[in-house]
Amino acid sequence: MTRFTFLLAGLFVYSAAQAAPQDFLQSYAAQAKQENPQFQAFSATRGEQLYHARRTHSSGKSLSCATCHTDNPKSAGRHEKTGKEILPLAPVANRERLSDNAKVEKWFKRNCQDVLERACSAQEKGDFVTYLLSIK
Ligand code: HEC
Repeated sequence: MTRFTFLLAGLFVYSAAQAAPQDFLQSYAAQAKQENPQFQAFSATRGEQLYHARRTHSSGKSLSCATCHTDNPKSAGRHEKTGKEILPLAPVANRERLSDNAKVEKWFKRNCQDVLERACSAQEKGDFVTYLLSIK
């Protein structure tokens, strides 16, 4: 390979790792249509409800997304167990949010499991991202 090809390959890998919030909406919309042919559009209102929905576990512990991320996604939060600071979730307050595919998927997986005791559907993820992006 020439140096130029290496350069192109490098650029490709870089752009594949970097995502924009809109990219998530596009791919969640495609997945949501597969999960449910009646799927129409994401809703910031449903996303906000998901953010605040509390679920009580069999252990008696009651959790919502807001437990760690606070009632306001523009605020820094704190992990309910470790006490570690969590930077704001809303992209308007933290430009690094919703820019890294692996990170977003990893935390949706872990946090949906922790709070809802199941995975989030593509529609829920899209609603959640739509809500975060609606915050100005
Ligand atoms: C027990 C604490 C806790 C709860 C509850 C929680 N999160 Fe998180 N969340 C974290 C931590 C820790 C991180 C990773 C650290 C960071 O990115 O600042 C994170 C990161 C994320 C990210 C990554 C965003 C990005 O682009 O960097 C998403 C998406 C997310 N959480 C969604 C959710 C959703 C949806 C819920 C509710 C179903 C939820 N979280 C509930 C602790 C929590």
